[in-house]
Amino acid sequence: MGKLQGKVAVITGGTQGIGLATAKLFVSEGAHVFITGRRQKELDDAVAAIGSHATGVRGDVASLTDLDRLYEIVKAKGRIDILFANVGLGGFVPLGSITEEYYDKTFDTNVKGALFTVQKALPLLNDGASIILTGSAAAAKGTPSFGVYAASKAAIRWACRYTAGGSSASRGDCANCGHRPDGAHGRALRDRQCGVVLGLR
Ligand SMILES: NC(=O)c1ccc[n+]([C@@H]2O[C@H](COP(=O)([O-])OP(=O)(O)OC[C@H]3O[C@@H](n4cnc5c(N)ncnc54)[C@H](OP(=O)(O)O)[C@@H]3O)[C@@H](O)[C@H]2O)c1
Repeated sequence: MGKLQGKVAVITGGTQGIGLATAKLFVSEGAHVFITGRRQKELDDAVAAIGSHATGVRGDVASLTDLDRLYEIVKAKGRIDILFANVGLGGFVPLGSITEEYYDKTFDTNVKGALFTVQKALPLLNDGASIILTGSAAAAKGTPSFGVYAASKAAIRWACRYTAGGSSASRGDCANCGHRPDGAHGRALRDRQCGVVLGLR
């Protein structure tokens, strides 16, 4: 029997990358996963790639209306055992070139999105549920031109320290993923990262 047999997981940003690798891993361990993303075709493709026990819900984590819709759909299935607030974006923009639009998009997605993904899920969390937010090694490093992204991930790192205490969850963890020095972020690496972080490997 899988380690997540019968569990319900919500994974935001589950159509590719770390989110999709995590969704596949969770389903292989017996969970039903809800994955999100903004693009319907990519969502449909990801659900097909996972194969079974996956539901795709289109939405933007920065939209509170979209989050309400997500949790209405999840509620029909039951309660949440694992919440993986994984969506995040960023780029290399040097001080002097940072625009208000870039700043707002980064913080709205990475910080506001993660915060309301968690807060709106609270009524649906089972006792002892796990809440995992995707951080980044960038939060602790001084990578040139990565300041806005790093600041948003530093906010996530701190938010994690308060997450479990403010909910019925027994765990609030931050998956501080890192970059490979050669810049490649292959599927194997992502599989390994999320498996280790989520305690499955
Ligand atoms: N890859 C790395 O090397 C690395 C390193 C450190 C930390 N991280 C962090 O790990 C997390 C995942 O990274 P990744 O590289 O696996 O991501 P990715 O491959 O870029 O995938 C991002 C996922 O999030 C979805 N998404 C993006 N913006 C969204 C929004 N506003 N609302 C809903 N869904 C949204 C995307 O689908 P749509 O575009 O269709 O919405 C996609 O499914 C992020 O938080 C990132 O900051 C990644």
